Amino acid sequence: MSGYEAARVRLIEPSPSITISTAAKELRAAGEPVIDLSLGEPDFDTPPNVVEAAYAAMKRGETRYTPPDGTPTLKDAVLEKFQRENGLSFERANISCANGAKQVIFNALMATLEPGDEVICPAPYWGSYIDMTLLLGGAPKVIKCPIGDGFKLTPTALEPVITPQSRWLMLNSPSNPSGATYSTDELRALGAVIGRHPRLMVMSDEIYEQIYYADEPFASFAAACPELADQTVIVNGVAKAYAMTGWRIGYAAAPAALARVMGKIQSQSTSNPCSISQAAAIEALTGSQNFVTTARAEFQARRDQVISGLAAIPGVKIIEPTGAFYAFPNLGTFIGRRAPDGILMETDTDLATYLLREGKVAGVQGAAFGLSPYFRISFALSRANLSTAVERIHDALNALQ
Ligand SMILES: Cc1ncc(COP(=O)(O)O)c(C=O)c1O
Repeated sequence: MSGYEAARVRLIEPSPSITISTAAKELRAAGEPVIDLSLGEPDFDTPPNVVEAAYAAMKRGETRYTPPDGTPTLKDAVLEKFQRENGLSFERANISCANGAKQVIFNALMATLEPGDEVICPAPYWGSYIDMTLLLGGAPKVIKCPIGDGFKLTPTALEPVITPQSRWLMLNSPSNPSGATYSTDELRALGAVIGRHPRLMVMSDEIYEQIYYADEPFASFAAACPELADQTVIVNGVAKAYAMTGWRIGYAAAPAALARVMGKIQSQSTSNPCSISQAAAIEALTGSQNFVTTARAEFQARRDQVISGLAAIPGVKIIEPTGAFYAFPNLGTFIGRRAPDGILMETDTDLATYLLREGKVAGVQGAAFGLSPYFRISFALSRANLSTAVERIHDALNALQ
């Protein structure tokens, strides 16, 4: 334990996917031909119209502090996006922008969590939900939603977990890591339960909205359950849709009273999101949407390639993701087997370590997402690399005895 680490920080861990990706980079630097499937970001460049908008903003002198939770123009761009893509009408007072969806979620949790308040996290979950909750004095409550449930929360699984301390339900569609998406009917069925518990709020993390392959249109929780507006926060951002992970702009639509508190927190933490990134995000949200369509088609082709490749490996169980850019195969068959050097595969962390060491493929163990034994693979990589990676996973898993 370091003398510099407060008790609340000792409750959390650095992000496992960043740890694995760092290990992969080190191996690569040492000359190993590792393919890194561990990170969650598009491999495309930010579209040129967005880059130009940032440059123009700099030249116009938009280089000063802005209102803490975003410029009025950015908020209007977010309002336009919600209207155009989700049929939702919000007002500026509902919108809160921050340095990425991650900070939006952090602000909303910080605004509301009292010590011991419960945050319900269906697993597999994005790990930051758990660590943020712990950091803010809350108590994560995990509901396991395995492959047999399509990795989705059902009303029957949700209802018995809710207590008077339950403050948030974290919903993430499309999901990182499973790629599962909820239909309007599924969201409505969950909404019927949530409506019976007025203190419970829903954080609907829709950051992967644009990376979506299902036949029915994407369903935002706010559109599916408009009667729950006072209990709903929609989280989204430009990172995944427009290949803008480094620009750090995320936004929320929240009840106005909550958005105000989130802005207050922001004003005392980072002041405002970068003024130039805000200008870039305005162009992303209101300019040509061609990039989104092209990127989606490419991700879908990669998904088809990766899923059929993994499904053909004896012992791998997999379902087709309907969104995001991750595959989440179940590797239960391989637990208890031994590597050629005799090492026993006791957990999915052992399998991820083995696949990195022997297969030269970096992915993230299901344990990092609260559900084992699984392995998350990002397919935000070229098709050639993906094809080699799937072959290597096949050979390495086959070599287990
Ligand atoms: C489910 C989920 N929510 C939120 C985020 C954070 O997005 P941003 O880069 O806008 O902070 C990520 C990023 O990996 C994510 O996977």
